[in-house]
Amino acid sequence: MSPFSVTRTLPEDATAAALRSDVLNGLSNDPKQLPPKWFYDARGSELFEEITRLPEYYPTRAEREILIERAPDIAAATRARTLVELGSGSSEKTRHLLDALTGLRAYVPVDVSESALTLAGEALLADRQELSVHALVADFQKGLALPDTPGPRLVAFLGGTIGNLLPAERAEFLGSVSALLSPGDALLLGTDLVKDEGTLVAAYDDSAGVTAAFNKNVLAVLDRELGADFDPDDFDHVAVWDPEQEWIEMRLRARSALTAKIPALDLAVTFAEGEELRTEISAKFREESVRSELAAAGLALRHWWTDGEGRFALSLAFPAEVERA
Ligand code: SAH
Ligand code: TRP
Repeated sequence: MSPFSVTRTLPEDATAAALRSDVLNGLSNDPKQLPPKWFYDARGSELFEEITRLPEYYPTRAEREILIERAPDIAAATRARTLVELGSGSSEKTRHLLDALTGLRAYVPVDVSESALTLAGEALLADRQELSVHALVADFQKGLALPDTPGPRLVAFLGGTIGNLLPAERAEFLGSVSALLSPGDALLLGTDLVKDEGTLVAAYDDSAGVTAAFNKNVLAVLDRELGADFDPDDFDHVAVWDPEQEWIEMRLRARSALTAKIPALDLAVTFAEGEELRTEISAKFREESVRSELAAAGLALRHWWTDGEGRFALSLAFPAEVERA
């Protein structure tokens, strides 16, 4: 069998249909909003990789530090033979896990970005010819069908991406991940933690403007895919900390009153001067909130590891039945 395969569970036209309905619903909403997965076309995935290297964007470095330190513990606690990674992106940090999981037979990276999966697969196989990689182009919020690979399975969801889901979406997502796990399987979850506002806002509004370019890239996706005529220069990037919800909210603010045409939807969208479009939230967590959200999905938190500065956490959780047995 070939060591690298890519399976699309999202046919091209289904992606297009989902984009259309998301854009139609989101831009008719008051306030206007768009779901974050549309950021990640090839350019968006590239810009995100640039974000991970910014001095202000600490989550990637903090999570890598924990992975390096705890990979042996994760390997001992899970003895995983299959590693499934949701929203795997470049799979760059995952290398530390792949190296530590000595019994590993298969790696299943799952992402909506086909370009990210292909690049990651090529990079991984360059020095791990023996690893069997089953890449899945799929939406992790839509009932995942995993390939038939040996257990135990470790499902990793890194990068704090869970914070990009709204609370109700998170509950549904965790429930569906929990349903995928058999006794002996585990979930490794990366969450960014609540901290001072200055550090948080800087991580989402860097001085080089990379995050601004990333945020505006969603407009380029609408222009290309739906023939829209958004001009990214007509919008400002905004990142604000919401202390009640404990999340960073990313928005695009219209610099002046404008109308954008979206021919594929037969739609014209008007923005008042200063009107904001919500593009992304990035929720920040505390140990107790993670523990209770996992428990609500039938998952028992068994390990909670943070970096030396307490900025980011990795949780290792198991199906709750196994805990009781
Ligand atoms: N895990 C990597 C990348 C995080 S960025 C890291 O920690 O650095 C978030 C990743 O999730 C992107 O690669 C994006 O393409 C993917 N993604 C976002 N929404 C998704 C969805 N609904 N289904 C599958 N992948 C998604
Ligand atoms: N999962 C990342 C996070 O919440 C995604 C991200 C980083 C992001 N910077 C961004 C999303 C800027 C939108 C805009 O940290």
